[in-house]
Amino acid sequence: MNREREPIAVIGTGYVGLVTAAGFAELGNEVWCVDIDADKVARLNAGEVPIYEPGLADSIAANRERLHFSTELAPALEHARLLFVAVGTPPTYSGDADLSAVHAVVDAMPPSDRHALVMKSTVPVGTGASIKRAFAQRGKEGFRYVSCPEFLKEGTALADFRKPDRVVVGDDGDWAGDAVVELYAPLGAPLVRTDIASAEMVKLASNAFLATKISFINEIANVCEETGSDVLEVARGMGLDRRIGSHFLRPGIGYGGSCFPKDVSALKQLAGNSGYHFQLLTAVIEVNELQKRRVISKLQKHLGSLVGKTVALLGLAFKPDTDDMREASSLVLAARLQADGATVRAYDPIAEQEARRLMPGVDFAGGALDAVQGADAVVLVTEWPEFRTLDWGEAAKRMQGTLVVDGRNVLDAAAIAAAGLTHEGIGRGG
Ligand SMILES: NC(=O)c1ccc[n+]([C@@H]2O[C@H](COP(=O)([O-])OP(=O)(O)OC[C@H]3O[C@@H](n4cnc5c(N)ncnc54)[C@H](O)[C@@H]3O)[C@@H](O)[C@H]2O)c1
Repeated sequence: MNREREPIAVIGTGYVGLVTAAGFAELGNEVWCVDIDADKVARLNAGEVPIYEPGLADSIAANRERLHFSTELAPALEHARLLFVAVGTPPTYSGDADLSAVHAVVDAMPPSDRHALVMKSTVPVGTGASIKRAFAQRGKEGFRYVSCPEFLKEGTALADFRKPDRVVVGDDGDWAGDAVVELYAPLGAPLVRTDIASAEMVKLASNAFLATKISFINEIANVCEETGSDVLEVARGMGLDRRIGSHFLRPGIGYGGSCFPKDVSALKQLAGNSGYHFQLLTAVIEVNELQKRRVISKLQKHLGSLVGKTVALLGLAFKPDTDDMREASSLVLAARLQADGATVRAYDPIAEQEARRLMPGVDFAGGALDAVQGADAVVLVTEWPEFRTLDWGEAAKRMQGTLVVDGRNVLDAAAIAAAGLTHEGIGRGG
């Protein structure tokens, strides 16, 4: 292993922090991880990985000798000069980003001429400037600052670390920026080295653009339903145009997760706070909220009143291959169904534990076929691979009704029809 790679620190061992730590440990760096959650640190030290992310547990186990986990900052400051910050920046009630965890990290830094904070957390534009101001006011002007936004996707996060589309480094042109560039060099990714504010904006603008693409195709899907067109054919035809591209043209029941909703809202608020009304993003957010609720009208179209009906939700996580339930469409859907008097049965292969905490009154099943037992309708919410091969003949025998709403357009409509069930996708015409 390369002995010249410099040790680094990672503050915050959530999805981003752990993947960053594992990724750099794979490259040969010693990584000093710090988290305030003592239980999480204890589990990591016991060899347990507290989140579900494909390949992560194996990567951490394989590089265990280079990974150190502690609740204390001191060992990290002693061994590393680059301190990657990967703490949460959840939304506040106003939609602005809550930077309290970031500020707690900044406040904990001692005066130093040999350390730098490297911001992986998604923060509003201007955060780097205000942190540098805070350092200067407190006699810590020697502390360097680098913005290095993270673009990984939960579910493929390690692969994204190993082969990023780009690495963005925003800095003041000093040793810290050079060191971060050097750290990522073995990955061979295109580098965007720029000023701090621009790097911060790259992250927010990228997520806002992707969310816009999703809301756009969802609206096209809704119009397709009115006009008898099939949105999958439309998306195929559009996506072949290289100016458009086929990614993120998959209609469904709205985006969720820990990033898109909060980052889009944070950019909208940031613009508003700076005196600019970002009209387009207001519409993107509203379309997404309405899209989550459209399933209810599909159910009502077929079942009439939902009072006393049983609806089975297949998949609860905000997307497959993660246990992350933050802002998942299933949360809105279950709450709406319950408010309309329906009984909700649900199954998710990985996210059940977290879902139980967030979805009171929902009846959890141990498998997909258990979930559909006695259901008047089934809604595919998260496209876990196992649902694509569900035995629809068996499902039909177990269900009380016949409706299957395919919220992600991934099910085999012919197999569902052959089982005597009614398939209703998103934007699939008439
Ligand atoms: N999850 C993603 O897919 C993703 C992708 C790109 C960027 N981001 C951004 O990365 C940041 C982290 O996201 P996440 O999903 O990994 O969050 P997370 O909630 O999974 O993890 C955050 C961790 O930080 C720890 N923490 C909080 N305050 C701390 C402190 N003062 N000192 C040390 N540790 C502290 C928490 O205990 C937790 O373990 C966010 O800003 C997010 O927007 C997330």
